Amino acid sequence: MTSPAQIVILGASGDLTLKKLMPALVGAARAGKRAFSVVGVSRSELDDDAFRARVADALDDDARAAFGDLAPRVHYQPADVSDEASLRALSERLDELAGGEEVGRLFYLALKPELFAPAVSALSDVGLLPRGCGREGAFRRLVIEKPFGSDLASARRLNAELHALLDEDQIFRIDHYLGKETVQNLLGFRFHNAIFEPLWSRHHVELVQITVAEDIAVEKGRAAFYDGTGAVRDVVQNHMLQVLALVAMEPPVSLAPEAIRDQKVQVLRALRAPDREDILRHSVRGQYTAGEVGGREARAYLDEEGVPEGSTTETYAAVRASIDTWRWSGVPFLLRHGKRLRKKYTEVQVQFRTPPLQLFNRPEGMDDAEFSRRLRDGSLCQIRPNVLTLSIQPREAISLSFGVKRPGAAMVMSPARLDFDYRDAFDAKSAPAYERLILDALAGDATLFLRADEIEASWAFADALLDGWAAADAPLAPYPAGSDGPDAADALFEGCEGGWSRG
Ligand SMILES: NC(=O)c1ccc[n+]([C@@H]2O[C@H](COP(=O)([O-])OP(=O)(O)OC[C@H]3O[C@@H](n4cnc5c(N)ncnc54)[C@H](OP(=O)(O)O)[C@@H]3O)[C@@H](O)[C@H]2O)c1
Repeated sequence: MTSPAQIVILGASGDLTLKKLMPALVGAARAGKRAFSVVGVSRSELDDDAFRARVADALDDDARAAFGDLAPRVHYQPADVSDEASLRALSERLDELAGGEEVGRLFYLALKPELFAPAVSALSDVGLLPRGCGREGAFRRLVIEKPFGSDLASARRLNAELHALLDEDQIFRIDHYLGKETVQNLLGFRFHNAIFEPLWSRHHVELVQITVAEDIAVEKGRAAFYDGTGAVRDVVQNHMLQVLALVAMEPPVSLAPEAIRDQKVQVLRALRAPDREDILRHSVRGQYTAGEVGGREARAYLDEEGVPEGSTTETYAAVRASIDTWRWSGVPFLLRHGKRLRKKYTEVQVQFRTPPLQLFNRPEGMDDAEFSRRLRDGSLCQIRPNVLTLSIQPREAISLSFGVKRPGAAMVMSPARLDFDYRDAFDAKSAPAYERLILDALAGDATLFLRADEIEASWAFADALLDGWAAADAPLAPYPAGSDGPDAADALFEGCEGGWSRG
């Protein structure tokens, strides 16, 4: 164990802290890899005991039972990030805690995005967050939540504001998707198993599709935030593009954070939204109407509490994107995310090209000449047997489909699959994403955090899509809650490319 650290959560009385961060910290304390204390900060007038009681109330039974060990090291200090005197009092309080000024401090901004820059500036003014302390020992690091900006211009501005006060190695921009075991396995799977690398390019891959489907509605109390955000900014720009970057990046030369992030940013920079003239053909924006989810009636987005009347915010986005690199030129990347869909799943499907000639499974009654002609002119689609499916959540699995000869006199090929499921292979349950990421930030490992240029490249893509929609006055396609999204999204597949996975 290295020296204990202080984790200072600004926004400690909020939803994220109570629902995600404190359970993660209880888990991290239980894992015992790193000693730390926690100091919750917000304007609410609480003391240590009252804060501990709030935390305990919000934990599930298992975590509550484990909280006893961490609780004595959980403290609370009321402070307002716009009030210097209260931040000075916070500084004194931190100095009084075990280790004082000599220990590393992680400042976690669980505040509204508008407060990110003012909070960093205020912490810096009172000397809590000096520049140049990213490394081990008495480090001073910042973890910053999403959303990081709302477009390229605001993300650039926020990066500039942060860089005016801190070094990049002090800044840990979080995307909790990167804390997921199966997302990290995208790297492991691709760059450990050499058999796939020769196939992983336009020469052998016909199409890649990525789905982040949610069955839940816009969360209670977050409708106002969501309505100003929409599906592209909420999920596509961040979680989905991170998955895409790991699927499409070039091999890194090492596992050093910069080696990996350098390759991810190259892909993100080469990612293209559809051109203006193709935007309506190659993307769909949708919004859910009333329907049924899991056998229960589900109301329309417009009827959700807090959604402004007549809102045209998209709760669904699908896009046929491309990556202009030697590896991926000409391979469509179909991305799809929506709320209130049939089921919750995140999945990547890599669809491999077909053999140059289809020899098998000629339909009965069709002669060879007609079979070849119809395959050539596209009125009959060749069977696409080889698909690699990387299931990220809730199923954590990998499967490869292929064709096998059906027993019998005729040469008929049937679909078959090789399946791997994490639950069958490993007993250990993987640590929740936030637990892993907070421990990494304490250790100064930025591999699973977003660098300034990655965020900006992702926003450039999101802006191009959103600006394209605005310029084309893209219609809002309705889809019933509990469905697979608007039918219009099926048309993003061309010719014999197939269709969306069903998860
Ligand atoms: N909730 C989630 O599941 C979730 C998921 C992903 C990302 N995020 C991001 O995480 C951040 C926090 O979200 P949240 O849902 O937890 O928001 P929230 O429930 O509104 O909490 C905001 C917190 O900030 C505190 N606060 C507000 N003004 C302050 C000030 N001037 N000085 C000090 N503290 C102040 C509030 O407490 P007082 O009123 O007592 O000061 C509260 O503790 C946001 O950036 C959000 O986008 C949240």
